[in-house]
Amino acid sequence: MKTIDSLLAENRVWATEKVASDPEYFKRLSQDQKPDILWIGCSDSRVPAEVIVNAQPGEIFVHRNIANQVISTDFNGLSVLQYAVKVLKVNHIIVCGHYNCGGVKAALNKQSGDLLIANKWLMHIKDVYRLHKDEIEALPTEMERVNRLVELNVIEQVSRLAQTSIIQYAWQQEKQPIVHGCVYSLHDGLIKKLITMDETTPIDPIYLYDFS
Ligand code: CO
Repeated sequence: MKTIDSLLAENRVWATEKVASDPEYFKRLSQDQKPDILWIGCSDSRVPAEVIVNAQPGEIFVHRNIANQVISTDFNGLSVLQYAVKVLKVNHIIVCGHYNCGGVKAALNKQSGDLLIANKWLMHIKDVYRLHKDEIEALPTEMERVNRLVELNVIEQVSRLAQTSIIQYAWQQEKQPIVHGCVYSLHDGLIKKLITMDETTPIDPIYLYDFS
């Protein structure tokens, strides 16, 4: 098991190796960040954004929470979104879920008396289940039901991004970013694309902002 001392030792080795292979590495990185991608993923330790797409520091702006959700009252996630879109001007946003997600699995069960706060976070996934209950319940095994809800949850989060004032304003003014919904498999390490939305995607009028 990793301890804080072993982590710090690993960090010193990493920093030393970086400078050895590229003496200007930290000087360059410390000046600015210009990532082209915002990643919204699950907090699960097995799905580290940069690692699974072989990205380097400076390439991806990352937000992770339980079950990769976009929630319209979550100032943490919305602040990340606003900064990524308005200041960094990312061209792409990726919502990446993963099969066998513990958060999605928990949402398919009863509320937990021990995890009262986490229950509230997962309530939004129960809403996704309710929207697609017939399709999900037609699947024969719990694993298939969880994994289909994982996919539907990703698609729902992409739609929720399109419902934000931040994305709608950027689409109107800049014609970007493109929003992608993906799912990662813990079994083979591969990412599959499920949905893409851009400024041409129709939005239900009840979610439309009027910026005029
Ligand atoms: Co997860």
